[in-house]
Amino acid sequence: MKEVKIETTLQVYDSISNLPEDVQQLMNSAIEARNNAYSPYSKFDVGAAILLDNGKVISGSNQENASYPSGLCAERTAIYYAGATYPKAKMLKMALTASSQNQQTLKPIPPCGACRQAIAEYEIKQDNPIEIYFMGVKGKVVKSKSLANLLPLVFESSVL
Ligand code: THU
Repeated sequence: MKEVKIETTLQVYDSISNLPEDVQQLMNSAIEARNNAYSPYSKFDVGAAILLDNGKVISGSNQENASYPSGLCAERTAIYYAGATYPKAKMLKMALTASSQNQQTLKPIPPCGACRQAIAEYEIKQDNPIEIYFMGVKGKVVKSKSLANLLPLVFESSVL
């Protein structure tokens, strides 16, 4: 038996104002998108914004449904729109912000497992890392240099 250790390194910024200018702008787009969340059931608002290599910013928010599983997370709302609209563009950076209507969301909220899997598909397809930045409503912002860094042991199409 041999043990395998998997390590992840993240960068933590104290606040949005410490981010590079272009990422601050991207995070502001995510905050704007978060205000469009449709979350009457969970009361948890999430916004996502993706910067493409053609300069476009695609944003999305979580959209819930009375049939709960029919709803979709902000990340997938945005990434599927980006993939469907600009299939040839590379996704460079993604900014995420989440805010509960029940409590102040001060800790950075990472993408859920299903969204990591969905983002991984595009990162593998484009063969270029997607930087992920995530935060709550204010305070610390966490950066991951790629999606792979957040999802070791990814399931991918080469095994099909
Ligand atoms: N949600 C997202 O939009 N992204 C995530 O990564 C985690 C969860 C949404 C789904 C649902 O509308 C609400 O947050 C509560 O789970």
